[in-house]
Amino acid sequence: MSAAAVYYDPFDPVVMADPYPTYQALRKAAPVYWSDAGRCWVLSRHSDVTSALHDPSTFSSASGVFPTVGAPSMADLFLPMLIMTDPPRHTAMRRIVSRAFTPRRIATLEAGIQELIEGLLDDASSHETWDAVEALTAPLPAIVIADLLGVPREDRDSFRRWSTQLIQSQPQSPRIGGALEAAAALYDYFASFLAERRIRPRDDLMSALVEAEVEGQRLSEDELLGFCFLLLVAGHETTTNLLSNSLVALAGEPDARHAMADDPQLLPRAVEELLRYDSPVQGLSRTLTRSTTMHGQDLEPGDVVLLLFGSANRDEQVFPAADRLDIHRSAEQHLALGHGVHFCLGASLARLEARSALQALLSRHRDWEVDEESAVRLQSGPIRGFATLPFRPIAG
Ligand code: HEM
Repeated sequence: MSAAAVYYDPFDPVVMADPYPTYQALRKAAPVYWSDAGRCWVLSRHSDVTSALHDPSTFSSASGVFPTVGAPSMADLFLPMLIMTDPPRHTAMRRIVSRAFTPRRIATLEAGIQELIEGLLDDASSHETWDAVEALTAPLPAIVIADLLGVPREDRDSFRRWSTQLIQSQPQSPRIGGALEAAAALYDYFASFLAERRIRPRDDLMSALVEAEVEGQRLSEDELLGFCFLLLVAGHETTTNLLSNSLVALAGEPDARHAMADDPQLLPRAVEELLRYDSPVQGLSRTLTRSTTMHGQDLEPGDVVLLLFGSANRDEQVFPAADRLDIHRSAEQHLALGHGVHFCLGASLARLEARSALQALLSRHRDWEVDEESAVRLQSGPIRGFATLPFRPIAG
């Protein structure tokens, strides 16, 4: 296939429904592709995406990590966020937040997460068919992140509304206004909690963030608000869609389901493969700080480059039979959680939630079906997943 025969529009609903054949064509014939629709270059091979992630001084995150196609950049729209900061400030900020976001704090959540999942499954089991998003995959991460931050669980419907508004915003569309409204609502929401934690600290992440200090440096008020906002969005839609995509992938794989149900030790490896196979974050962008040449193509400073994690994770050069779900393969080279300095800060939490949810579900139901025809896909360039997903356990 010649480069001219490949057409890729990251915002096309047909591509969103199944992007993998297009990714394969890009990897093969146009590894550095100019997308007119996205007004960005697109990198699709594992080796190229990895090299870009390794070189933040050339591939900068400072203008934002979603292509905004001529609309104001994310940096102009939102308060400063870790994910949109380059070293050396990124290094300092990451050290400060890591101080609050410790493995110890995450490990203390495990028992609560298991109890929460059992409660959600108990509620769902009174119905023959349930919407998996409504019943399990959305409330689980929303409640976990609310508990972690230390805000009321009851506010989770607002979180979901705000974060859906944010991720479904498309460039050059009225929805960008919706994203700004959602961001303003979230900043107001967190500002009042942060003010209270300054006066009366508690044993929660928000209090720890207010107090975290490295070499005399703390986060500014804007950075604190930006970080709470990032955690809510980054920790919520991503985990929801890892779980939803996993339910769909496993629906067609009875052997994998039964093997995991019989031997939960397989779960950690299976979760990595599910992250690889149908990644919730399909791609994020960078902006070039200097000229560079890739595969003979000259790229200029200021050019936006979309890094397709979803395509890199199906690259046959790294993952043989990449289009096949194989829960026994070692998929750890996947880029679903990023790579390099911005590697997902919530990776251990995401893995814990996914493992616990699948284990609890499989111990109740070894078999299920999903109704993909009636499911509603998210209309989001970067996030792949579902707004609704009809799910039916099959009695054994
Ligand atoms: C960064 C994916 C869950 C917090 C990232 C990045 C990816 C990612 C691809 C890299 C961004 C970049 O390179 O620009 C995912 C996926 C998740 C998940 C697929 C679930 C399956 C979470 C959770 C949290 C979280 C649960 C927090 C509670 C963050 C933060 C960053 C990040 C704060 C920015 C790190 C930095 O810039 O240094 N995530 N994430 N993520 N993630 Fe996650």
